[in-house]
Parts: sequence; structure tokens; C-alpha cells
Amino acid sequence: DVIKLILKQIQVGIIGGSGLDDPDILKNKKEKKVTTPFGDPSDALITGEIDNVQCVLLARHGRLHNIMPGNVNYRANIWALKEEGCTHIIASNAVGSLQEHIKPGDVVIIDNFIDRLSSLCRKQTFYDGESGHPVGVCHLPLEPAFCELTRQVIFEVAEKLQIFIHRRGTVICIEGPRYSTKAESNMYRQWGGDVIGMTSVPEVVLAKEAGLCYAAVGLATDYDCWRETGDHVNVADVMRTFKENVIKVTKLITAVIPAIANKKWEQPVKELKDMIQANVMLPH
Ligand code: ADE
Repeated sequence: DVIKLILKQIQVGIIGGSGLDDPDILKNKKEKKVTTPFGDPSDALITGEIDNVQCVLLARHGRLHNIMPGNVNYRANIWALKEEGCTHIIASNAVGSLQEHIKPGDVVIIDNFIDRLSSLCRKQTFYDGESGHPVGVCHLPLEPAFCELTRQVIFEVAEKLQIFIHRRGTVICIEGPRYSTKAESNMYRQWGGDVIGMTSVPEVVLAKEAGLCYAAVGLATDYDCWRETGDHVNVADVMRTFKENVIKVTKLITAVIPAIANKKWEQPVKELKDMIQANVMLPH
């Protein structure tokens, strides 16, 4: 049952985006191949510990990076992490910057999204009426979309480590795999977008539906293509900027894990679970 959550112990799922899925951050790591009622996740789960906290690592695009954003099985990924016992998910995303003050190399703790996906391609709910799936119709509220308490923990840790972060940002999630036109990029800026990516949605939606505390660490890799000067986004620059900053992001995420485990979660998790239950309409 997707809304049944027994808080035995804190366990953190780490969804690594492009360039951030290094299993060596885990101690006592073990590979575990799993499947779900929604199909196979992107790759095997890698279980292990960071600072004595149980963690599960999953490479969003597969360890070979051969699954494009539109083909990621987001439902299987979230379900698998939930089944494994995760209470939290920290995701990393490479994003383009839509604002001058968010510079390539900067970290953004995303707090909102605008969904620009072609809705037919990515399933956004576990409650789809199919047999073996959760029963009912779920109208999930998405304010807040990301777990506020987990975001707060990231702020505290970043401050302690003196890692500069932007504390909020709206991500425009596009279908991809192509990048945007200049006209689109400028429109997204007018909409209030701060960063742009291809993988935040439906991952954050499904995590909330599953009752998991989900936060995302966005790494700005480029200025997309709205600026009059400078290079426009391209894969080489995205990968290079990610590589240059992977140590910083890894340091932040690995320090966030024990900080999460040091907080009390019974109440917020219960509230999340009650909220989901209240928004699932069961057949009469
Ligand atoms: N990921 C990294 N940079 C991006 C951009 N400019 N647009 C979409 N996804 C991205």
C-alpha cells in the first residue's frame, strides 16, 4: 500500500542525475536488482551506508547513461526506493539557468516547478486504475511540491560547510531530449522560471504521492540560450560544468544524510501520509 509508511528507521534514497551517481560514496555497498508493479527501475539499486545511515543509490539515467529523460521509468524508480524502505529522497539534477544571478556551477535548492512535458509520455500517478496498482483516484496537492523540512536541512548543512546555494528556484521541466529555442527560453523567463531541466517532473510528484520526503539539489550547468552574449547550451559544456562541481555537490549531499537522520520525522511524515489519504477518492 503506497500510503502505508512504517517509520522503522530513516533511510535515504539518492537519485543521481547526469554525472552524479558515484557508488563509491557508500560504505558496505551491495547491488540489488529489483522490479516493481510498474516495471523495472533505471538500474540496480546500490544499498549501503553514509555515516551509519542506510542509503540507496539509483542512477536516474542508468549507470551507462543510456536512458533519456523521457524514457526514464519514474514510477518504477520511486516505487523501488519506497519498497526498499526509503523515507527520504535527495535528487540531483543538471539544470540550465534562466537568471543572470544563477551562474553555471551554482547550486539551487529547487522549491517549485512548471510542467512543460508532453503529458502523454510520462505517467504522473501510481493510482492509474490498473490491476495491482494502488486503488482510487488521487488528486495530489502540490503546494509545497518539495519537502520543506528536508530543504531546511540542506540550508543548514550548506551554511555549516560554507557552500553557497540559492535557497529557492522554480524549475521549468521540459520534455526534451532537445534543448529549448530562444523564444521558449525567453518565455520561460517571463513565466518566472529560474532554472530549466528535463527530469524534475514527474519524479517529485510521484515521490510526494508515495509519502516520501523529497528534495532536489539542482546544479546550474549553463545559461540555456536566452542571453545575447556567451555560449548557448550544449552537451559538452553541461558535462564539463557538472564534472567541475561534482565534488561540491557530493560533499553537500553526503553531509545532508546524517543531518536528516538527526531530525525527528514522525510528525511531518504522518501529516504527509494523512494528506495523501485525504486526497485519494476510493470507489463507493
Ligand atoms: N540540463 C542542463 N542544462 C539544461 C538546459 N539548458 N535545458 C534543459 N535541460 C538542461
